[in-house]
Amino acid sequence: MLKTTTFGTMPDGQKVEAITLVNSNGMQVTLLTLGATIQKWCLADANHTDIVLGFDSLEDYLNDTAYLGRTVGRYANRIAKGRFKLEGQPYQVSVNLQGNALHGGSQGFHNRVWRVIDTQQSPSPAVTLQLISEDGDQGFPGTLTVTVQVSLDDTDTLNIEYRASSDKDTVFNPTQHSYFNLAGHDSGEVLNQHLQVLASHYTPADESGIPSGEIRAVHGNAFDLTQLRPIGEINQQDDPQLRQTQGLDHNFCLDGFDESQTQSRLVAVAMEPVSGRKLLTRTSMPGAQIYTGNFLGATPVGKKGVRYGAYHGFCIESQFYPDSPNQPTFPSTMLRKGEHFHSLTSYQVVE
Ligand code: GLA
Repeated sequence: MLKTTTFGTMPDGQKVEAITLVNSNGMQVTLLTLGATIQKWCLADANHTDIVLGFDSLEDYLNDTAYLGRTVGRYANRIAKGRFKLEGQPYQVSVNLQGNALHGGSQGFHNRVWRVIDTQQSPSPAVTLQLISEDGDQGFPGTLTVTVQVSLDDTDTLNIEYRASSDKDTVFNPTQHSYFNLAGHDSGEVLNQHLQVLASHYTPADESGIPSGEIRAVHGNAFDLTQLRPIGEINQQDDPQLRQTQGLDHNFCLDGFDESQTQSRLVAVAMEPVSGRKLLTRTSMPGAQIYTGNFLGATPVGKKGVRYGAYHGFCIESQFYPDSPNQPTFPSTMLRKGEHFHSLTSYQVVE
């Protein structure tokens, strides 16, 4: 089932809708057309536990700097100094964090109103949102047409499928920036929740999150998350990379990447020890930024008046590696004129 309501009106008069997908188990996911944002993910349990952080009003989303639930683009994560070259041609894109480009620049996809181009009731409720990012948007070349299809199937899996094409060579790196708290968005820190990431390597970065280019093995150091471990314990390890970011905020090189991106594979498991509830992440993408909400602040105030703070949610942001346009050894983010980009990411709740 699909339900659509009006969520609010943008300062320029555009309407923002909230679309709720309900599967046959009674699980509900609400998406906003602002930023193709996951606003709520309510389980079918007695408390309707809502496992993602979010806000109740459009105004709060417009004041949000933590990207709660947003679809991020044109380039998720960082591009050093916002500069890169394509076929020898230099580009300067919008820089919005410590002199680097973060999450698509100051007016990224997360703050745009996406258009609903398709809805589907069966086999699973689904909605397809489209955004046309004009040539030169935030400094990026080419008119890029992006769609994201979100569906909620009867295995309690939220499937996210990205497609894009451009009329000039460009770079593209979308992600989903939900903050999960498997005990409920209103239950405080996630430090006792466990995390496993199926990655043999990660990309160490400098203080501003720009990778050095090294692909470092996780074996024998703080970044070995190949077994389930409590987030608090991971974050407290004595490691200069972790100290620099006050906990995990790093890109992992997920095992089993296949460039064709036709299939997703299991890349991460999260577990809440009291209920035993799990979240399985699958993706076709090469990397994921694992972020434990280290810099989450108390404003805007969250849903139902809940004040969020540091470590109240974790993010598993499937992506290409940060700063790939400047790192020739990383999987390429180049999207050539006329080519069709396709990738899959899904999150499944297992009770
Ligand atoms: C990503 C970044 C973090 C932070 C969050 C949003 O995870 O790596 O540093 O910017 O997004 O606040």
